[in-house]
Order: sequence, then C-alpha cells, then structure tokens
Amino acid sequence: MKIVNYGSINLDHVYQVPHIVQPGETLLAGAQDLFCGGKGLNQSIALAKAGAEVCHAGVVGEDGDILLEALRSAGVDVRHVRRASGASAHTIIQVDPGGQNCIIVYSGENMRPSEADIDRILEDFSPEDAVLMQNELYNTPLMMKKAAEKGMTIIFNPSPVSAEMLGYPLESVSWFLLNEIEGEALTGESDPEKMLDCLEQKYPGSSVVLTLGRSGAWASSHGKRYFQPAFEVKAVDTTAAGDTFTGYFLAGIGSGLQIPDALRRAAFAASIAVSRKGAADSIPTAEEISRAE
Ligand code: RIB
Repeated sequence: MKIVNYGSINLDHVYQVPHIVQPGETLLAGAQDLFCGGKGLNQSIALAKAGAEVCHAGVVGEDGDILLEALRSAGVDVRHVRRASGASAHTIIQVDPGGQNCIIVYSGENMRPSEADIDRILEDFSPEDAVLMQNELYNTPLMMKKAAEKGMTIIFNPSPVSAEMLGYPLESVSWFLLNEIEGEALTGESDPEKMLDCLEQKYPGSSVVLTLGRSGAWASSHGKRYFQPAFEVKAVDTTAAGDTFTGYFLAGIGSGLQIPDALRRAAFAASIAVSRKGAADSIPTAEEISRAE
C-alpha cells in the first residue's frame, strides 16, 4: 500500500519565549530559529523515516527548495508537490521553557491546491492505496470526497480543528488520528474514554487513535480498545510530536504490526521528537528507534 499525504508544507519561525504571550502583551523572545515544518511535511517525513512508501502532495513557493530537499532527503516522493509563485506557507511558533508551543499558520492564496491538482494527484493512485490528510490544506474535504469515491483508504488527522470540519464526509474515514482538543471538537466530550465511546457510535466503520501527550494514547478498532502509556522524557519542544506519532503508527500498521506494537513504537518515536528542537528535524530515524528498543 502506498500512502499519498495531502498536506501542508510550512517554514516554521520558532521563538523561544519565557511564557506563551497573553492578549495585549508584548514579549521579548530569547532565540529564533527557522525549521522545515507543516503537519503534512512532518507526517510524510515520519512515515518515510519509519519505512513507509509515501508520496507528498501539496504546494511550495519560490523559497521552497529547503522544504523540497527536506522531503526528498527523507525518501519522500515529491512528484505531486507543485511549485507556485510567491512565498511558501509559514508559521509563527512560540515555545516556552517547558517545551509547550502555540502556533499560527499563514498559507496565502497561492499555496492552495486546486480541484485540477487533486484530480492529477488521484490519477496516480488506486483503491489499494491510502490518502492521509490533516486539516491545514485548502480543499481537504474535496480530496476526502474524491479519494473515497475512488475507493481509497481515508486517514484523517483533524488538525487544526475548524467548525467546517463537522461537515466533511467523515463517514468515509477509516482511521482518525487525533489529540484531546480535536477529539473534543468532534464529540463535545472532554473525558478520553467518553470521546472514544462517542466516536465509535458516530463513525462505526472507523478506527481511532487518540493521543493525550504525557497521559499516553488510546486506540479503538473493531470493537477493541488498547492503551499505551507515554515514555517519560524531558520536553524540549513538543512541536511535531503528534506528527511523529502519526507517521510511525501508520507505517507500523502498514508493515503488518499489531495495534499495540504500532502504538508502542509511535509513542517511543514521539518521545524522542519531544526531546529535540524543531519540527521535521526532531523526527527520529527507524535505526534510532531499533537501537533503543
Ligand atoms: O504539528 C506541528 C506543525 O504544525 C508545525 O511544523 C507547523 O508548521 C504547523 O503546521
């Protein structure tokens, strides 16, 4: 099974701050870095590093060489990354001393994939393949609808949450990968097990992975539930921890791992990502994971 990841590609401007800025406050940042990121790019890189065959579909601007190179050097097929005029999508990320972050994403109109892009992308894939989506890229529900019509496996990470998301054709999703904020947005519940109850009821044909940061992760699939505790690490930067988890979990399932083993590997990979700065740069290789196991 090949995975096509229809996802964002961002330049992350990361600022180390004493605390996350409050409304009306002006704050001096201690340090600034530029990293390759985007939930889409991070997940493609995590998938490729974990050994999956992944093709990334998205858009970069004139300054996108560094982003394309990050994807290529991790082993991601970039034939469906279109180059557009203007600047690539970017983010402003604050990281506090505990490694917590907050993120603003700005994409710009030129970085929007069109319906023609989607049709071109899907021509290269078959019902045996899967499409992975986050909620950062324009036309995500259209891609979901067209990929479902083609009979592909739909995997959705509903991040960042939006009100429109509830109107997407979510009944076609085979796997949801979400955190507690996204789970609450889809279900209205704040207790993780109640979220799972609600998701199982609303989407009986879907499997779910619910990540809870330091509190571990749950999976629910075909009437069974699994829990994986988080690995203890000193958090330096939590950016892309969820993306690392997603990539490693899906690569594990795709290579035939059972859900508990895929969860464990994904949680371990995410714990390494949390202990390092940056987004894509923080994602460990499969060799690093195997050495430590
Ligand atoms: O999930 C982390 C990512 O979210 C960052 O790399 C940033 O670009 C935003 O898309």
